[in-house]
Amino acid sequence: MDSFKIRGGVPLRGDVTISGAKNSVLPIMAATLLTPEPCVIRRVPNLSDVKFMGEILRSLGAEVAFDKETLTVKAERVNGVGDYEMVRKMRGSICILGPLLGRLRKAKVSLPGGCVIGARPIDLHLKGVRALGAKTRIQGGYVCVSAPRLTGAEVFLGGRSGPTVLGTANVLMASVLAEGVTIIQSAACEPEVVDLANFLTSMGARIQGAGSPTITVHGVKELHGAEHEVIPDRIEAATFMIAAAATGGDVTLHGARTDHLTAVIDKLREAGVRIERSGALLKVTRGRKLKPVDVTTLPYAGFPTDVQAQMMVLMTLTPGISIITERIFESRFMHVSELGRMGAEIAIEGPSAIVKGGAPLSGAPVMASDLRASAALVIAGLVADGTTQVNRIYHIDRGYESIDDKLRSLGARVERVEEP
Ligand code: EPU
Repeated sequence: MDSFKIRGGVPLRGDVTISGAKNSVLPIMAATLLTPEPCVIRRVPNLSDVKFMGEILRSLGAEVAFDKETLTVKAERVNGVGDYEMVRKMRGSICILGPLLGRLRKAKVSLPGGCVIGARPIDLHLKGVRALGAKTRIQGGYVCVSAPRLTGAEVFLGGRSGPTVLGTANVLMASVLAEGVTIIQSAACEPEVVDLANFLTSMGARIQGAGSPTITVHGVKELHGAEHEVIPDRIEAATFMIAAAATGGDVTLHGARTDHLTAVIDKLREAGVRIERSGALLKVTRGRKLKPVDVTTLPYAGFPTDVQAQMMVLMTLTPGISIITERIFESRFMHVSELGRMGAEIAIEGPSAIVKGGAPLSGAPVMASDLRASAALVIAGLVADGTTQVNRIYHIDRGYESIDDKLRSLGARVERVEEP
């Protein structure tokens, strides 16, 4: 297993290009199952999750070809079984359920199960497809859905923690080939949902309102092949912005969509980080003095849960008390104890982490528990005195394209080594 050895203390300086969004490309890849015609997807990030989704599509019968940042999928014939061995490795693969149901009118997909960031229920996905006329049954760890006829309906997808991103994607992908009109209420508004809707529209789907809580779909008989360029990864952009601020550096981001980063930019500015936009470039410097801020994660356009761990590292460096409240996933604080091993003072009170910032971080061996926690530990390592070894970085390779190369190009001392 690989790990990162980081010698901290170097301010990041230079330019970095933001890759395509992982959480856009995964459902978009699943959507290619909706047509027998070839689809071409551009700006595809080279990530283990993307390769893995490619494997899933192959296991379902599709031809999948990667050529650098371009991916071609032709799903001429599709079988409807998403195997346990496949789905359990990546919870995001549940988004094959909607397109399989849309295309084949039936599917059998392994239930994803929980993970370190909390339970990952799919009750809302199932509620949505049931509203379209599908029967759902859990058997042997699989969810089996079938609908001789899929018919448009009004579907409310709000849950305990707000809307569901992949639930919205699944219902959207099932409804584009349903008969009649589907209205998804309390739909997720994330840019990744809009990106998926844009791809589906270019395949011939009729969708209105994506990006708002009400999405209306007029079902069509069939979809055709299409070409699409994936949006830039707003979470990768936010991670580099925070890394630049945390190290007291000066980094210019190329290709980030500032309109997708409003809540992050607003919070970072409140914390004293300087962010200047010039055309498509975003320049991030620390500013004179960091200030503690309170952050609550919320569905889009609120502060993203996927940036909570990274923001917490910045607050450990900021003198004063910051309160970081996680409202999306119940146990997304696995990074707290690892940051504690580096000297951070953080106490958990229910859904909130109380960060007493200002104490210097010191390098230590730490263990990554999930993708975003790993990114946070890497940022902490970049700032800490001495050497930090971040173990189990296969998590980070799932969602950050060549992060070690990108960090090294900004001056960071990061090496990929064998885990001891
Ligand atoms: N939820 C339910 N029932 C459901 C579905 C979700 O109660 O049927 C709850 C979840 O337990 C959670 C909340 O709703 O409390 C939101 O979960 P959501 O369904 O929106 O999460 P997701 O679609 O499974 C995607 C991203 C996550 C990201 C979340 C929230 C992908 C592949 N994954 O997950 O990304 O954190 O939306 O924005 O798009 C990551 O990239 O590190 C990551 C975990």
